[in-house]
Amino acid sequence: MKNIDSKGHVTGKSVYLDDIPVRQNTLYAAVFDSAVAHARIRFLDVTEAENYPGVVAVLTYKDIPGENQIGGIIPDETLLAEGEVTFQGEPVAVVIAESEAIARAARRKIKVKYEELEAVTDPREAAAKGLLLLPPRTFAMGNPEKRWNDCQYIFSGSVEIGGQEHLYIETQGAYCFPLENGNLMVYSSTQSPTAVQRAIAKVLGTGMHNIQVDVTRLGGGFGGKEDQATAWACLAALSSYQLQKPVKLVLSRHDDLRMTGKRHPYSSDFKIGLSKELKILAYEVTYYQNGGAVNDLSPAISERTLFHTTNSYFIPDVKATLYSCKTNLPPNTAFRGFGGPQGMFVIESAIAKAAQELHVSASKIQEKNLLQEGNLFYYGQKARQVYVRKTWQAAFREFKISQKQKKIEAFNKSHKLLKKGMALMPITFGISFTSTFLNQARALVHVYTDGSVGVSTGAIEMGQGVNTKMVQVAAQTFGIKASRIKIESTNTTRVSNTSPTAASTGADLNGQALLVACKAIVQRLKKVAAETAKVKPGEITFRDEAVFAGGKTTGITWEKLVSEAYLHRIKLSEAGHYATPEIYFDKEKGKGRPFAYHVYGTAVITAKVDCLRGIYELEDVEIIHDFGQSMNPVIDTGQVEGAVMQGIGYMTMEELAYDKTGRLLSNSLSTYKVPDIYSVPEVFVVKPLKADGPKHAILKSKAVGEPPLMYGLGAYFAIRNAVRAFNLDFDEFDAPITPEKVLMGLYGKRGNINLK
Ligand code: MTE
Ligand code: HPA
Ligand code: MOS
Repeated sequence: MKNIDSKGHVTGKSVYLDDIPVRQNTLYAAVFDSAVAHARIRFLDVTEAENYPGVVAVLTYKDIPGENQIGGIIPDETLLAEGEVTFQGEPVAVVIAESEAIARAARRKIKVKYEELEAVTDPREAAAKGLLLLPPRTFAMGNPEKRWNDCQYIFSGSVEIGGQEHLYIETQGAYCFPLENGNLMVYSSTQSPTAVQRAIAKVLGTGMHNIQVDVTRLGGGFGGKEDQATAWACLAALSSYQLQKPVKLVLSRHDDLRMTGKRHPYSSDFKIGLSKELKILAYEVTYYQNGGAVNDLSPAISERTLFHTTNSYFIPDVKATLYSCKTNLPPNTAFRGFGGPQGMFVIESAIAKAAQELHVSASKIQEKNLLQEGNLFYYGQKARQVYVRKTWQAAFREFKISQKQKKIEAFNKSHKLLKKGMALMPITFGISFTSTFLNQARALVHVYTDGSVGVSTGAIEMGQGVNTKMVQVAAQTFGIKASRIKIESTNTTRVSNTSPTAASTGADLNGQALLVACKAIVQRLKKVAAETAKVKPGEITFRDEAVFAGGKTTGITWEKLVSEAYLHRIKLSEAGHYATPEIYFDKEKGKGRPFAYHVYGTAVITAKVDCLRGIYELEDVEIIHDFGQSMNPVIDTGQVEGAVMQGIGYMTMEELAYDKTGRLLSNSLSTYKVPDIYSVPEVFVVKPLKADGPKHAILKSKAVGEPPLMYGLGAYFAIRNAVRAFNLDFDEFDAPITPEKVLMGLYGKRGNINLK
């Protein structure tokens, strides 16, 4: 089935927040943000802005009727700065005017005097000063300290990995208007409608029942709208509530880049110990996560880094410690992979380091240590249906990796100024929110008397195709055609207490809840059908829009059955609830079974570096991916392709730059480079692993949103290997590996070779 949105998207008819027709008397808001990273606000004068023609009001924290607090996990985040600012881009005031242009012009008239305080932007510096968002966390299995003696080889090193801008095409925004009796309607571009509803109720000092949040779709989220859509919705709601007028607040691209947090940069230290046979016996790692000024989702992201510390490998003795460091940067946040990529980059770097010192290929060490059925993940979960080795072996077979390796060696021998490199990237990614309670969802299904169906769930469509998958679940369960089914907007009044659409669980959780609801209706309809056809309910099946008994046609159509059921006063609506069974996690001990299942795969990536200019291209990206039994191969393959390109961008060209004062320098698309169609490798193959799917995956179709991003890490090591084919002294692990870093790497230390 094609994505139900494809026609709307290509014809421009799909409705995003900015396409919602505005009501009469709509006002527009612009946010005035801090120009310094850390300071006391000594003086704030908004009168000139208030008097600016066309301005209706300027609001500060003093105008908040409830709590000035929007922290999602930890209550440490003000909506509007109160006396102190802790990052550049922090909202201080909101200007509401008759037009967006006026609001933006008027905010320049706000006068502030800051008493600047020391700004820290480096996570290690923050840790040294005791500036932590939370106490450090350690996950461990066995004890590496006791294992180092058994190791034939021990290597250690440091690893840097940068952040990443989400660059959703639709910037953050919200549109609110007052309803009667103090209620409020909120349209928000959010992955977490309930979080928005909860935060607005808190800020306004009302109940959640007073706030209705509605989302049709997002123009991309990628995690950037899991927590960080909330502030803008709260500011629009506050303005709308205070003025009793419709208010729209949409960030300009510059505002969005400056004010919102990104993927967390990490600085890490590792120590890895191997046996003579290249088995990894012990691994110790310390992560310094650059959290930004407040917690946001950092506690949960930290956990996922710890969970993915050993990527696809079994290591008997592991200790991982994470410092979530408080810096004066915008709060860093969820981004596809959610801390997983950072953890996985360190272990892959450790393996690459061991490989280079031992003069073997990294793939040899990787292969030796891949997880096996029944191994314990170091957080206590037993590995079940482990297919990573299968994907590895399939990749070797299908992509002729041994031959590829030989060709590259031959190429490198015969070329002086062009060098190639290859890397394998196995992935193992846990599916479920690491906070167990979030693994629940609800759905509401109405079957109308004409046989058409309305479906509401808690899932947010953000381009990943979850709505199409919901249509498939309902159509399949009722045995009717997709055109009978409408996916309604995601609305907190219809489906309550939603978890964010995140952790790649959107289709699984909401699909299972939808399945529960559809099955309940099917049960009731079967009774009606059985009575009409004078058979037992157990014999009834629905398919091709008709009723079958014992596999034979009954002549009863779906439409007829539904209208019959209605006349019998049978309930044609149902609310389904689903909570992932069997999962739990003890946060104190760091042990449990946090994930419903894991997703596996192996990518092989080759790169070619121009050793004169430092530029490079990725030649082939070939992947064996474990989709389970994909319910929609077109959508799922698209998810893999998109995620891989996002991962490649992260590892190669996307470089965030802040100056020492915490100012974002890469604040536009002229200075922040993202992949485009020309960055896509010439050979880009995604093949499904032939394997069964786990029962907790919706229709055995595994979650696919995030895991393939991690294949992109292979691009780093492929390029690094090519650089090392030119200059063996290139020894750093510092992502992204931009052409600039490649050039420095090619000619660093002894790299200044005779080019004749
Ligand atoms: N695909 C598109 N096109 N746009 C997005 O914003 N977000 C990703 C992924 N794929 C995203 C996307 C992220 S971060 C997640 S967690 C999942 O989709 C969420 O959707 P799912 O749970 O339905 O897979
Ligand atoms: N992934 C994404 N978002 C989350 C998670 C997670 O594991 N836990 C809490 N929010
Ligand atoms: Mo995705 S980072 O879990 O929104």
